[in-house]
This record gives sequence, structure tokens and C-alpha cells, in this order.
Amino acid sequence: MPKKTTRRTFLKRTIGSLFTLLGLSSGGYYYANKIEPSMLSIEQMDIIHPLIPKSFDGIRIVQFSDTHLGFQYNIKQIKKLAHRINQLKPDIILFTGDLLDEPNKYTEINRLLPILDSLHAPLGKFCIFGNHDHGGYGSDLYRNIMEAANFTVLLNQSSTIKLQDGSRIYLLGIDDAMLGTPDISIAMKNVPKHHFTILLSHAPDLAEDALRYPIHLQLSGHSHGGQVKIPFIGALIKPPFAQKYLEGLYSLGDNNQLTLYVNRGIGTTRLPFRFLSKPELTVFTFRT
Ligand SMILES: [Fe+2]
Repeated sequence: MPKKTTRRTFLKRTIGSLFTLLGLSSGGYYYANKIEPSMLSIEQMDIIHPLIPKSFDGIRIVQFSDTHLGFQYNIKQIKKLAHRINQLKPDIILFTGDLLDEPNKYTEINRLLPILDSLHAPLGKFCIFGNHDHGGYGSDLYRNIMEAANFTVLLNQSSTIKLQDGSRIYLLGIDDAMLGTPDISIAMKNVPKHHFTILLSHAPDLAEDALRYPIHLQLSGHSHGGQVKIPFIGALIKPPFAQKYLEGLYSLGDNNQLTLYVNRGIGTTRLPFRFLSKPELTVFTFRT
């Protein structure tokens, strides 16, 4: 009996034929399935802006994103990742969404909680919702996990990051664009003007909306950097709201009003492959 061609098998076949076409065949398949998804690239960059208070000089943020636990990424791997994040000695830890690939099917929450709780950041751990965190009625589950692990969930809300001398910056988090109700204006409600402001949005393409507000830096995930990139063709998967901004640094608006950084994420989804799009941790250091 002929097998029904699902979207997943169709995509797998497409990728298979592309690798074959490129002469990579089984070696390429093995690399994209086993090797690259378990790599980790640590990207480092400075954040420089006149509104960053002097006492923030040297403060470090570590951003991680899109772990998609339960698909190709497992508990052992996130334990190792948490250890690596702590080794980087972050002052602030930010998670930009998509913790579990399918929240209602995930069975290792009891093992996951202490790992997320072990992440250490003296100025706070913050997170936002991604589309997978809402999927399969996962919204409450995600919030409960993150709050139990001492993360502050920012759902169209803001928070202050304040140092002992009273100097501060503001951090906003909005809901996911695909399955949630993102609202930057509500999130901005308690944010005064003329302070350095960071927006967390799972979906990078919402940077175009962020431009209408006094936001200086947007940190996103969601794209997985394309996850599989074919030379001369480009990214194989561009999810909705990650069509325009795929990975790395972008400057938007007049006088570079907004800097956008898109993290490639840690895990994979839909297809157990990464090719030319290594998993990533990002370390941002404030410089004044
Ligand atoms: Fe994702």
C-alpha cells in the first residue's frame, strides 16, 4: 500500500534529494542529523549605547533560545548546556521561547526543573513565550515550569534591572506572534523615556513594530537561523514572523535606532537536522 506523504516526509525527502544533489549523500545526512545539532557556538558581542548607565559597564547577559526539548534535544544535553551557561558567569539570563517541542507530550519535567533552577544570574532570569510554549495547551505548563525555576515570565510586561547605585535599564517581554497576543504598547506602559530598553520577542520580524517605540535592542529567536541552509539556495525553513530577519545582528530605523539580534537557538523542530546553522548561546556585554 502506498504510504501517505505527510508534510514531514515530503520535507525529509526534499532535504534528502538536496544533499544527494550536493554530493553529500549519507555523509551529509549524518553530519546534519548527528554532528551539527550537537555543536555549540558561543557568540560574543558588546552592547554600546549612550543611554546605558556607566555602572552597567561589564555586565553580561547570556541569551539562549528554542531548546525544543523532546524533539531531538534531551535532558542530558540541557544539563550540559546549563553548566556551560553558568561557566560563562552571566549577570542576567534571558530565554527567548520554545522550551518544549510538544508541551503536552513531554514526560521529563521533574528532571528539567532542577536544571533550569540551577541557572545562576544575580540580576535575574527572564523569559518569554514562543509559539511552541502555547502549543498543545502548553501555556500554563510553560509558565509553571519557568516560574518554579525562578524565571520571571514577561507576557506583555516590563521589568527593571537595577544596580545598587540606583542606575537601571528596562526589559520588556511580549507574547508570541503566531499563537499569542503580542502587545508592545501594553508592555511599554511602565517604561519611562530616556532609559536603555531591551525588548524580548520570540518572533524577530516584530522588530518592524518595535521601531515605533523607544526600544534600543530587541532579542529574538524562533528562526533557528533557517536550521538547514543549502549553499546558493539559502534557508530551507523560514517560519512565519522570521521571514525577514534570520540570524545575527541587524540595524533598523533612522540613525540605527533599533538593534535586533536573532539567536539561532539550541534545538531543532519538524526536521532533526541542522546544516550551516549551528546551535548558539549569545553573550552580550554592556560597554559604556
Ligand atoms: Fe523554535
